[in-house]
Amino acid sequence: MKLDNQNILLGVSGGIACYKSPEIVRGIRESGGQVSVVMTRSATEFVKPLVFQALSERPVATSLFSLEEENQIGHIKIAERADAMLVAPATANIIAKMAHGIADDYLSTSFLACTAPVFVAPAMNHHMWDNPAVQHNLDILKSRNLNIIQPGSGYLACGSYGTGRMAEPADIVSVLEDFFSKTGDQTGSGSPLKNIGVLITGGPTGERIFAVRFLSNDSSGKMGYALAECCQQLGADVTLISGPTSLPEPAHIETVHVMSARQMMEAVMERSEQTQIIIKAAAVSDFRIEAPNPQKTKKSDTLVLDLVKNPDILKELGKKKGKDQFLVGFAAESQDVKHYASQKLKDKNLDLIVANNILQKDAGFDVDTNRVLLIDSKGSTELPLLSKEDVAQKIMDYILAQDKCQSIIKG
Ligand code: PMT
Repeated sequence: MKLDNQNILLGVSGGIACYKSPEIVRGIRESGGQVSVVMTRSATEFVKPLVFQALSERPVATSLFSLEEENQIGHIKIAERADAMLVAPATANIIAKMAHGIADDYLSTSFLACTAPVFVAPAMNHHMWDNPAVQHNLDILKSRNLNIIQPGSGYLACGSYGTGRMAEPADIVSVLEDFFSKTGDQTGSGSPLKNIGVLITGGPTGERIFAVRFLSNDSSGKMGYALAECCQQLGADVTLISGPTSLPEPAHIETVHVMSARQMMEAVMERSEQTQIIIKAAAVSDFRIEAPNPQKTKKSDTLVLDLVKNPDILKELGKKKGKDQFLVGFAAESQDVKHYASQKLKDKNLDLIVANNILQKDAGFDVDTNRVLLIDSKGSTELPLLSKEDVAQKIMDYILAQDKCQSIIKG
């Protein structure tokens, strides 16, 4: 069965499409999954919680302030237990709350506490669907990697014709099945990295020259953020240590913002011992200003900067790497890529290095695509030009296929 052992948290918000949601529960159960249902107050006006309770064979949560419900389930516990969350139907109201972090009922609170992948099946009148505010909120959710299940077109409950009809229950269940068949093992969680700590660094670092000026580089953070999101989809407990970027913080990923290489070093070292997989995609400044001026330096014809070497975070990690740790570095090279990257693999005691040629226009810094070479002690594998999301997926597929990674997962 395709959803074997998956725990799906179903959030039901109040729209007429609620009448289809019990069919979703039935579909998930038939596919081997378990369902916990959380309803908004308006949803209970359309369908009684008892219907969901009977089909899911689990208590249904409707009120944060019900002693009995909180005692039996608990909005944090129910969110933590989920392998995926599905909101169906998702009204314009709950979509807005999810986009803006409003937590004023069981459903919206559970959503914020949920770190599993989230699927959203909108349902509403077609003018509401077309409203720029709704589309903007959906864009926010998409940018945070939530999966939007497109509504269909046809006659709507309000009598008009257009887009806004919730996808059919069977199609929604198929989306979940496809997701778990792509991401996961069928025996357990559908999340091969469940309970595995992954630490990822992304973006540049910035080294203060004087107040309001710093030295940095062209890293946008896209590669590191794509890896963090990919690992989260694989079920890992992800921490992203990010240098200064303009990317939105990924939803449900613990993100620690740092500025300088030394701050990045501190944030990484603090967490490295509790982490099984470390991937260093950040472009760390090799040098820093020894004594930055806390004031704004006055303009002059020349400015001489005294630079001192920054610590090599990856090298330090390599020195203290445990048997149960998988350490991955990146190499930004402009010539003889394989040779220099292989040297870094050895010097820094890495399990894998991902090398990119930063002189290619469509690869490396500040573009949406990358073309990388995966190098380890067994040899090298060249990947074609791919989106950074696909590169992240391929890197993780490679790591997951390694015996060392499998033995780390098995404990
Ligand atoms: O952020 P994007 O715009 O998406 O761009 C992605 C990227 C080009 C930044 C990324 O793909 C990449 O190549 N990252 C590594 C960049 C880099 O600094 O490479 P390096 O060859 O100088 O360093 C080798 C490795 O040592 C890297 O894993 C780096 O994180 C690490 N390092 C380097 C210096 C230092 N002081 N400490 C480190 O930990």
